[in-house]
Amino acid sequence: MVTDGDTQMVDATFPASSTSKGKGKGKATQHDHPADNDNLPWVEKYRPVQLDDVVSHKDIISTIERFIEKNRLPHLLFYGPPGTGKTSTILAVARRIYGADYRKQILELNASDERGIDVVREQVKQFAETRTLFAKGFKLIILDEADMMTQQAQAALRRIIEQYTKNVRFCIICNYVNKITPAIQSRCTRFRFSPLPMAQVERRLLTVVEAEGVNLTTDGKKALLKLSKGDMRRALNVLQACHAAYDTVGETEVYNCTGSPHPADIESIVNSMLSDEFTTSYQMITKLKTERGLALQDLITGAYEYLDGLDLKALARIYLLDHLATTEHRLASGGSEKMQLTALLGAFKNAVELSAKA
Ligand SMILES: Nc1ncnc2c1ncn2[C@@H]1O[C@H](COP(=O)(O)OP(=O)(O)O)[C@@H](O)[C@H]1O
Ligand SMILES: [Mg+2]
Repeated sequence: MVTDGDTQMVDATFPASSTSKGKGKGKATQHDHPADNDNLPWVEKYRPVQLDDVVSHKDIISTIERFIEKNRLPHLLFYGPPGTGKTSTILAVARRIYGADYRKQILELNASDERGIDVVREQVKQFAETRTLFAKGFKLIILDEADMMTQQAQAALRRIIEQYTKNVRFCIICNYVNKITPAIQSRCTRFRFSPLPMAQVERRLLTVVEAEGVNLTTDGKKALLKLSKGDMRRALNVLQACHAAYDTVGETEVYNCTGSPHPADIESIVNSMLSDEFTTSYQMITKLKTERGLALQDLITGAYEYLDGLDLKALARIYLLDHLATTEHRLASGGSEKMQLTALLGAFKNAVELSAKA
């Protein structure tokens, strides 16, 4: 497969993105003229330009770079949770292959497009058949949200992939790999994108904090990292929202911006449920909910975490966890918040009794 001609193609096209000129240009759009980009969401403004800018996933990147160097890029299947760099990686790969003008050589499709597989087929056909600048090169088609496709559509996609393998490489992106039919999986090299380690999210976040002049406190940073759970998109979106709303971004501001309950609030709520009288508890919780604009569901999510660290007898704990789950279920199917809160308070009283008895 790697002939002299192919190697020349590699030589002729790949260096474009690795020259200092190409690099400088890429960086310029990111950092040098922030004024031009004031309205851009930070997730776009700070999307990695070069493969080197992608944090974590070093093994994935070096593997793909080796494929590129040998001019043997296979079809790719990227899977893993949102905000971990799947789209960013393939765009940086495209830039690495085609240079700064890479947009002309790639086609980005969304598989969950309701117009269906026939539209995908038509677009692939048109794109694959237009003449490429590089006589022997291949084009790249990025198919996002492929796990939203029906089995039938996936079967059709498999045939499309086979039909155009000669001059097109596919990069299939999804969250859940087990929703992709084995027939497609076996035609791709699979790469799993795991949630980003906190230290990596932090490193990238701090570059943005510095570039944008965000006044982020140590507690604010901790809260942000905790909430983002390895999802860089979420971390950047929350940071941008906080920065737009507040001069200083601390823990409270972060929780306010996400609509997540502040851990301190959860603590007072759960403690009150366990030890205060029913009416006191009920009023206190209702007041907090209104003040903070929280739904009962938000409090339940927080309560789960808080209960983990609480000294309760096993039976009482099981009873409470079960009741929290039931409440969630009832809320999701349209139960009234007032009634569910009343029932939940009752459950906490029972749990306290159980814990005292057992
Ligand atoms: N590994 C990463 N390295 C650097 N930035 C990242 C990484 N993952 C995500 N990001 C940031 O989060 C945003 C969303 O990333 P994206 O690649 O679209 O995630 P995905 O496609 O996995 O949902 C990007 O614009 C980028 O700023
Ligand atoms: Mg994506």
